[in-house]
Amino acid sequence: MDKKILITGGAGYIGSHTVKFLTTQGIKLQNIIVFDNLIYGHKEVLPKDVIFIKGDLLNKSQINQVFHKFKIDKVIHFAAYAYVGESMKNPGKYFENNILAGLNLLEAMIEGNSYKIVFSSTCATYGIPKSSPIDESFNQKPINPYGESKLMFEKILEWYAHLKNIKSVRLRYFNACGAAYGIGEWHNPETHLIPLVLKSALDKNRAITIFGTDYNTQDGTCVRDYIHVVDLARAHWQSFDLLDKEDFKTDYFNLGTGKGVSVKEIIDLTKKITNINFKVNIGERRLGDPDALVANPAKANQILGWKADFSIEKVIESAWQWEQNLLKKEN
Ligand code: UFG
Repeated sequence: MDKKILITGGAGYIGSHTVKFLTTQGIKLQNIIVFDNLIYGHKEVLPKDVIFIKGDLLNKSQINQVFHKFKIDKVIHFAAYAYVGESMKNPGKYFENNILAGLNLLEAMIEGNSYKIVFSSTCATYGIPKSSPIDESFNQKPINPYGESKLMFEKILEWYAHLKNIKSVRLRYFNACGAAYGIGEWHNPETHLIPLVLKSALDKNRAITIFGTDYNTQDGTCVRDYIHVVDLARAHWQSFDLLDKEDFKTDYFNLGTGKGVSVKEIIDLTKKITNINFKVNIGERRLGDPDALVANPAKANQILGWKADFSIEKVIESAWQWEQNLLKKEN
């Protein structure tokens, strides 16, 4: 029996791009298992021949069955809730889903003799950094339950690496964005900047609101590190080599471009690329937004041999293509 790759949350935004990316590297669809509860994921973005299991990691028997049925060589764990604002209102939902569900996965892995995992973590584990760019030695002090839940699971992975021999690579994504393979960012509700800016370009009745213009940045708007989803997908693939090393236990990497882009710059670039002059409002600051979050990706470069390929222009162009298709799909 061929060894399989299990992708939890594989019907989500980054998960579905990773499924497609793996197939471009020669992984056969019949060796990829997507496990997703479809609360936020979209099954229709997945290739037809992928093995799809509708299941919830909070249900131990559902995930245990997967490991009984298949020989899983590697796991990529995306499944999580990821709305920062919601996590402030309903922390229990985040701790349960992002920690307890993950623990069920780890225990199922042990039962199934599966010992290699790539984990989808976040720069939100750093909270408000003392400065940018941020390298992996920075303090991790999350300022919301979402970031805390991801950090806690990173710590659990460290213990499982040392006590239970589960090897893990923890990838701390900065701002995932862009689109490829005819799929893209499809969240409901959508809260992220780039899709919201593009929706304003598509609909004259909408406007994009800039959340604060008095930040300590060059133009006063928040600066982020926007990293294309295919660059992120590739990092998971490149992590596999590390997991296959005999004496490897666990490691963690910042995934970003190393370049900061402001909210205002995103808006100006989008106007240029779409050639549409949409409405822009200035609003209040959003709670909990740090001035700047930019990665220092040197460690990922040195150890994984990974570096971002996509420019911010390519990000916006690809997301623009997708947003226009999404509009047709949703109408
Ligand atoms: N923004 C606006 N207007 C909007 C939406 C966003 O001005 O309508 C601004 C935000 O204030 C922020 C920037 O655009 O300064 C980017 O916001 P996003 O919501 O797109 O992304 P975040 O940086 O808030 O969130 C990302 C990830 C989270 C992660 C977080 C870490 O999506 O999962 O980084 O801080 F937790």
